[in-house]
Amino acid sequence: MARHTVTLIPGDGIGPEIASAMRRVVDATGVDIAWEIADAGEHVMEEFGTPLPGHVIDSIRTNKVAIKGPITTPVGTGFRSVNVALRKELDLYTNLRPAFSIEGTGARYDDIDIVIVRENTEDLYAGIEFEQGSAEAAELIDWVAEKGAGVIRPDSGISLKPISVTGTRRIVKFAFDYAIANGRKKVTAVHKANILKHSDGLFRKVAYEVAEEYKDSGIEFEDYIVDATCMQLVLHPEWWDVLVLPNLYGDIVSDLAAGLIGGLGMAPGANIGAEHAVFEPVHGSAPKYAGKDMANPTALILSAVLMLNHLGEREAGDRVLAAVKGVLADGERVTYDIRRTRFGTTEGAVGTQAYADAVIERL
Ligand code: NAI
Repeated sequence: MARHTVTLIPGDGIGPEIASAMRRVVDATGVDIAWEIADAGEHVMEEFGTPLPGHVIDSIRTNKVAIKGPITTPVGTGFRSVNVALRKELDLYTNLRPAFSIEGTGARYDDIDIVIVRENTEDLYAGIEFEQGSAEAAELIDWVAEKGAGVIRPDSGISLKPISVTGTRRIVKFAFDYAIANGRKKVTAVHKANILKHSDGLFRKVAYEVAEEYKDSGIEFEDYIVDATCMQLVLHPEWWDVLVLPNLYGDIVSDLAAGLIGGLGMAPGANIGAEHAVFEPVHGSAPKYAGKDMANPTALILSAVLMLNHLGEREAGDRVLAAVKGVLADGERVTYDIRRTRFGTTEGAVGTQAYADAVIERL
């Protein structure tokens, strides 16, 4: 029997190609993993009548660990995000997104070391929405007016932003526990509490309560407004350590952080709950590069490094990280995005699989 069984969701768009590159790299470490392939996304809808079939969730429930490529979400209309559904279904309440500099990416900074802890189950991502023109939207608009709570234009669509004490407590606790376990110095709670008093205001208040419980941990705590955070991240990335944010700001600030380290092709992530963990890059399915053997698999390979650490295979994780660093520092066998950022031209770029080969040769 294999030492570990891991659910592998290749996803769509560039997902299958980067998933195959990642899998080849992980297999080349010699760690004994049985991959249980589980397909999700639009391409399985015809067969199963849903983009997220029950057996995919069951596989993760059984194996407890999964790694996935990105899955496309139709914009505006169509089915809701499979990624969001997965996080909610398994209560993967933490989205952990470390952003650290690796030499050779051509990024503007070389000393980034930030960890984003994004709440993954509530906020504007709760999926509670009322379509413009619907009877429900009209009813809600009337109710708000009746309560004297405000005037909403009758032709509005509405999305709710719930933030709870429970949801906030556990994510801020996760941030502190992570900081302690990983030798970090500071946790910053990021919000817009000056405007959103009852959602972000609650997030800030509960964050301070949790910080009080950790006051003897030696971890410093502060809070910061999200817009100012974005500016200071660009001006002074060295100020920041562990950031804990509600869902939407966490998503946006993650992409900003990816920009600091050389782009979305470089940014790994993990969705973590009490019992299950699903590893996936920050980026999406980049449809315009799908099937072209061009996409950078580094973000997914680094997500696999997080997964190997989670599985207790730290030595293999360290070897993969060192191999990726070697290939990037060398700069000769890297994908188009890295060539462009580092050398200003995509000339000389190699494909997704050739990059994976270069990583494997250095393991
Ligand atoms: P995206 O992250 O897919 O791509 C934006 C741009 O970033 C691409 O056009 C490309 O230039 C670059 N890029 C992204 N990943 C790259 C890689 N590995 N190598 C090289 N370049 C890369 O964002 P977009 O276009 O907003 O979303 C596309 C689809 O992905 C949407 O349907 C969206 O809903 C979905 N998505 C899925 C996620 C997930 O599965 N967790 C996360 C984010 C978006």
